[in-house]
Amino acid sequence: MLEKYNEAAEFIKSQTSLSPKIGIILGSGLGNMANSIEIESNIDYHNIPYFPTSTVSGHAGRLLIGKMDGVEVIMMQGRFHFYEGYDMNRVAFPIRVMKMMGVTSLIVSNAAGGLSPNFEIGDLMIINDHINLFPTNPLIGPNIDALGPRFPDMSETYYRKYINKALEIANNKNIKVHQGVYAGLSGPTFETPAEYKYLSIIGADAVGMSTVPEVITAHHAGIKCFGISVITDLGVEGKIQKVSHQEVMDNAKQNEENLVLLVTELVKAID
Ligand code: HPA
Repeated sequence: MLEKYNEAAEFIKSQTSLSPKIGIILGSGLGNMANSIEIESNIDYHNIPYFPTSTVSGHAGRLLIGKMDGVEVIMMQGRFHFYEGYDMNRVAFPIRVMKMMGVTSLIVSNAAGGLSPNFEIGDLMIINDHINLFPTNPLIGPNIDALGPRFPDMSETYYRKYINKALEIANNKNIKVHQGVYAGLSGPTFETPAEYKYLSIIGADAVGMSTVPEVITAHHAGIKCFGISVITDLGVEGKIQKVSHQEVMDNAKQNEENLVLLVTELVKAID
């Protein structure tokens, strides 16, 4: 497998003169961040050896390599969700390719349902921990010792220094942010009211269908992770309304501006 990650990484490197250390994955409805990079290289997933390609019509998915306010980044526009039928090896693949390219920090955004009673639609939540409720784990299978240990420590999965930096930025820029625990589950169903309640009881503040597999993979490989959710709907007792994917996308888009601002500033601070 390592050879495949390497081959994909070598191909990507051959397409760019940059060597980004920061990877960014964009969440549903949060593609606008791509407009804030000065693109140097734009590579369709299906041109990259062994790279998974999207099954969802319309969005093939591509890697953007460029500069965000002068800082080199590699951005995945289009991610792989477990609910689409990708096995965890595929979900993990791009992260490991980034690792082979020399990426040391990963920023992941997502749209999520809010579980904490003081969250409102449009709020941002910095992820300070997660609960893996996917029916599996991307590290199941033979361990690739060259990437990381068999039994990775998860006591600080979300890099504390990045969280503190993001809080400081939010404070300086007057951006409202929460901190909390993200529960990741497979979907594609949204939650029943009983499931929202259960998630809140077990300690989650937000819920979504992504991020956890990518972050586990990255953390295993020693990549420092930062995750942030845009709250697009509420799973709070008494406030639960019908929700659709379109609404999630629209609410994410509408509230993307502060997310882009925060991430841009964080990227500069990491650099
Ligand atoms: N549940 C699961 N995933 C989600 C939600 C939700 O309420 N909102 C956005 N993604």
